[in-house]
Amino acid sequence: MKISIISGSHRINSQSEKVSRYIQRTLEEQGICDETWLYLLAGNPLPLWDESIWESDPDWMARLEPISEQLAASDGFVIVCPEWHGQVPAGLKNFFLMWGKGELAHKPALIVTVSSADGGAYPVAELRMSSYKNNRLCFIPEHVIVRHVESVLNADEEKNNPDTDRYFRERIPYALGVLREYALALVRVRESGAASLQVFKNGM
Ligand SMILES: Cc1cc2nc3c(=O)[nH]c(=O)nc-3n(C[C@H](O)[C@H](O)[C@H](O)COP(=O)(O)O)c2cc1C
Repeated sequence: MKISIISGSHRINSQSEKVSRYIQRTLEEQGICDETWLYLLAGNPLPLWDESIWESDPDWMARLEPISEQLAASDGFVIVCPEWHGQVPAGLKNFFLMWGKGELAHKPALIVTVSSADGGAYPVAELRMSSYKNNRLCFIPEHVIVRHVESVLNADEEKNNPDTDRYFRERIPYALGVLREYALALVRVRESGAASLQVFKNGM
């Protein structure tokens, strides 16, 4: 089983990246899956979507194909998303526009949102409302909101609040275990053919 982690912050050395790397280590060290792949939106590696994607523009193809292969080979996803102005960052919304060939379709995703204070609920709601229609990603009902992120999951224990740090070091593996079971279960849905994108390419 392969689980890919998408870190949705545009910032270099973001807290979302810190959380994403913790998640990748947890997946690997606890044997929750066999393989992981981490994709960072730090530094905006993907330009804004434009219509030439539909015309198989060579620059776009060269940019997207390696990512498309990694996503298509994945059985599940963790979407790590900071709250920016109460929203999902534009780069992550842009990312979700790119995958219309079934790379994400009928595969489970765990939402993990990140806030330096008490935020984090708005991007959960936004992702659940609007980031799955055509790509057919399945957000699972479990999610994680990492509040006061600077005080948890740091390699330097001195920087951690012991109580909240312990909580997230228990809660995140639990949520990843739930994601794993959805990943196993949804293979059946994809293999059934009932959800073929050849019939209705786009969601309603
Ligand atoms: C442009 C911008 C807007 C932000 N807006 C919010 C916000 O609305 N709510 C919130 O809880 N934190 C907000 N923050 C702070 C982030 O929660 C904080 O930077 C945290 O580390 C997660 O973002 P990061 O992964 O980019 O580091 C904002 C940060 C930036 C850079």
